[in-house]
Amino acid sequence: MKIIVLPKILSRNGLILRPLRITDAETITKCLQDGRIKHWTMRIPHPYHLKHAEGFIRNVQKGRRRKTNFTFGIVPDGEKQVVGAVSLMNVNAEHACAELGYWMSLPWQGCGLATEAVRLMLHFGFRRLKLFRIYASAFGPNLPSQRVLEKNGFTHEGTMRKAMIRGGKRCDLLNYGLLMGEYRKRI
Ligand SMILES: CC(C)(COP(=O)(O)OP(=O)(O)OC[C@H]1O[C@@H](n2cnc3c(N)ncnc32)[C@H](O)[C@@H]1OP(=O)(O)O)[C@@H](O)C(=O)NCCC(=O)NCCS
Repeated sequence: MKIIVLPKILSRNGLILRPLRITDAETITKCLQDGRIKHWTMRIPHPYHLKHAEGFIRNVQKGRRRKTNFTFGIVPDGEKQVVGAVSLMNVNAEHACAELGYWMSLPWQGCGLATEAVRLMLHFGFRRLKLFRIYASAFGPNLPSQRVLEKNGFTHEGTMRKAMIRGGKRCDLLNYGLLMGEYRKRI
């Protein structure tokens, strides 16, 4: 896989996805104070401090230079600050695959923004990066995340039963995938 074009900003219907800057660290720290976001993700620490956000931003900047991680801050129409993030991580050039991840700050959940941000990322991943497959996973009880994937055409490929522990309880991990051909048929 050859990655050629790396646009700085993706936008659609007023929604903007832009690379994270170190100056976003404070906003991200505020967004991630609520443990309910960490609860359904695998990589977000809790409690969350400024140093976590700074480390996260430096990591994704390094990943971008290496072309292994493309993380964008989600900025809604008319806003200046990021209110969430969406990533293509673990970009594997040999197999043309990448893992999708996302989160939205609580006040911005439920307005369709995550679905729209994922839609933009799929365009970026399949059209610009020329990926063949994008995959994601969601915890069994995380219905909003599963909905975001289903609304974007992902197929539930399988369930790792009782694979993870959340809130002291074992829960399933659902694996989803979308192939370039399936994406092309939808648009
Ligand atoms: C997953 C997440 C990004 C979704 O954000 P969002 O802004 O609510 O997403 P959207 O508004 O685009 O879509 C959410 C969908 O879930 C649905 N939904 C919300 N709560 C639900 C519930 N309890 N049961 C079923 N569906 C639910 C909404 O109705 C909507 O679907 P619809 O458009 O068909 O009505 C957000 O919940 C989040 O950040 N969660 C914590 C982090 C996380 O889970 N990240 C993903 C890890 S895999």
